[in-house]
Parts: sequence; structure tokens; C-alpha cells
Amino acid sequence: MQEKDRLFFQQKGSVLAGAGKPGTQDAGTAIRICDVEKYYGNGSHVTKAVDRVSFTVRQGEFIGVMGASGSGKTTLLNLLSTIDTVTAGHIYYTLSDSGSCPPARRAFNTGCPEGYTLSDSGSCPSARRAFDTGCPNSEVDITELSEDRLSDFRKNNLGFVFQEYNLLDTLTLEENIMLAMTLRRQKKEEIQKRCTELLELLGIADVKAQFPYQVSGGQKQRCACARALANRPRLLLADEPTGALDSHSAQTLLETFTEMNEKLKATIFMVTHDAFSASYCGRILFLKDGKIFHELVRGEKTRREFLNEILDVLSLTGGEFSHAE
Ligand SMILES: Nc1ncnc2c1ncn2[C@@H]1O[C@H](COP(=O)(O)OP(=O)(O)OP(=O)(O)O)[C@@H](O)[C@H]1O
Ligand SMILES: [Mg+2]
Repeated sequence: MQEKDRLFFQQKGSVLAGAGKPGTQDAGTAIRICDVEKYYGNGSHVTKAVDRVSFTVRQGEFIGVMGASGSGKTTLLNLLSTIDTVTAGHIYYTLSDSGSCPPARRAFNTGCPEGYTLSDSGSCPSARRAFDTGCPNSEVDITELSEDRLSDFRKNNLGFVFQEYNLLDTLTLEENIMLAMTLRRQKKEEIQKRCTELLELLGIADVKAQFPYQVSGGQKQRCACARALANRPRLLLADEPTGALDSHSAQTLLETFTEMNEKLKATIFMVTHDAFSASYCGRILFLKDGKIFHELVRGEKTRREFLNEILDVLSLTGGEFSHAE
């Protein structure tokens, strides 16, 4: 980074200090990312895709990650979503909204009379030890979980929205949403009720009986959002969710994300190249060569003011990103 850029960032002041440091969890913490590294390759051909990154995501935050192509955005998202495993470091999820034990038990309850679940052996005490990592913190380090438990963890806590929608073409929009809930063996009436709620919320009730190839890109993406929200995930992860959309559909999707964030209190982690999309976030982390080099917080600013602030950062970093609008 050049001297003028360094001065700019000093003036703006980073609020990253202390983020993700062990022991800094409080009641509002959703995820702590502590010294996470992901390297690809070996010997003289090592790529540091994510290079000692630490930060904290708070519950109910709408957080964006920006960076040039190859800066490590998708890798970081894949680590948070357990799709990929870290080379080093830890990722702690808070499993209790209030920081007290009972909700943490309920979060993982799939029928054990004691309220403890995810035990491979079916015995409560071992499951308890694995997931009850010291109430009232009730955090779980996903970098330490076995593949079986990771799969349960994903199913119970995460929702995904991809650039390419990933809907099943042989199912209607409604069935695509329902499928996510069926996998968790919920009651039929509950599935139907939740599905109707989501179809309304996302404005696609009138096309629910259509197949994905019969609706627009925007409607497909809203269906993908509904599917991601079906199980009330702790965290919604989105990698370039507006990448395949025209500007009107992109705006509708971003407004939907904002609504999900504000009304449903969904915590959202969104990767984007695009300053316009990023301006909907409450906070943005800027990645370069696998490191976080800056952070912006929207605070009380209007979206337009925040967009200008984002564009300022991008222009100082060589404007390697797109700035649609
Ligand atoms: N499976 C892999 N094997 C080897 N190198 C990889 C792999 N996945 C990613 N990389 C490398 O890690 C770095 C970060 O990649 P990543 O996909 O996270 O970037 P990105 O910021 O999402 O880029 P884009 O904006 O193009 O999607 C790149 O240098 C990439 O080539
Ligand atoms: Mg990517």
C-alpha cells in the first residue's frame, strides 16, 4: 500500500482492533474468526488464499466482503460455511442467541430427551461434552468437528445463496423450498406453513407452481433465498448473489436481504465485487492477497453516502472492482 493510501486509512480509522481475538466473545457475537489461514499447494508453489485473518461477526449483522479477483473472498466464505477446512486457526460459532445454555441445547435438539444431540453414538453425555464448550459461552469450534457433525452443523445452522441459484430443475419453486425442510424431517403442516410464509415474503407466491426454467433470474434467486431461509439459519452465506442478475433484479434481491436482516434478524455474510451491492451492508471487510486491509462501517450514513465511501476506498486501491450504478 502506498503512503497516501496508508494515511487515508489511518484518518478513517480501522475498527478492526481486537476483532476475533480469543476471549473477546460477548452476548452479541455470532462468529469469531481467529487467525485463520488457508494455503493451497506446497513447496515453492504455496498460495496463501487466506492469510491470518481475524474478525468477529455480530448477531444480526449484514456483513460484506470485497476484494479483487483472487483476493480470497470465496475461500473465506467456504471456510466459514465448512465447505472447506482451515490450514490453521479457529472459527467459533455461538450456538446460543442469548448466551444461556437452554437455547443452545434447543438449537441442537433433534429428539434426545436430555436435549443434547449430534452424538454419533446416540449417548447424550458425549454429545454434551462435544457441543457444550463451557456455558454460558456455548461456542463451538467448527474447525474441530468431525465430518458427520459438520454435516449436521451445516443443516441446522447455515443457509446458502449462490450466484448460480442451484435450484433443482425437476421441482417447482415451492418444492425446491420444501425440500430443504424435508431434509430436516419437519412436520408436513409446519413445512407448508413456513413455505407459504416465505413465498409471500419474497414475492414469488404467484409463480410457486412453476419450474425454475419457467421463471426469471430474479425470481429464481428469490426462491434460492427462500430456500436458504427455510430452516431459520443462524447465518446466511451468499457468494456474489447478484452476479447473474440484471440491475433491477439485483436491487430487488438486495432489498430482500436488507428486509431479511432487519425484520427476521438474519445474520448475513455476502461476498461481492460490486460497490452498489456492498452499499446495502452494515459493514464491509476489504480483502487483499488473503488479508483484511480495511474495514468500513455504515453506521448512520445513507446508502448513497456509504456507496461513495466504498468508492473512495476502491479508487485508492486501484479500482480493481466494479462500481455499478
Ligand atoms: N482449490 C484451489 N486450489 C488451488 N488454489 C486455489 C484453489 N481455490 C482458490 N485458489 C487460489 O486461492 C486464491 C483465492 O481464491 P478465491 O477463489 O478465494 O478468490 P476470490 O476472491 O473469490 O476471487 P473471485 O473474485 O475471482 O471469485 C486465488 O489465488 C486462487 O487461485
Ligand atoms: Mg470468488
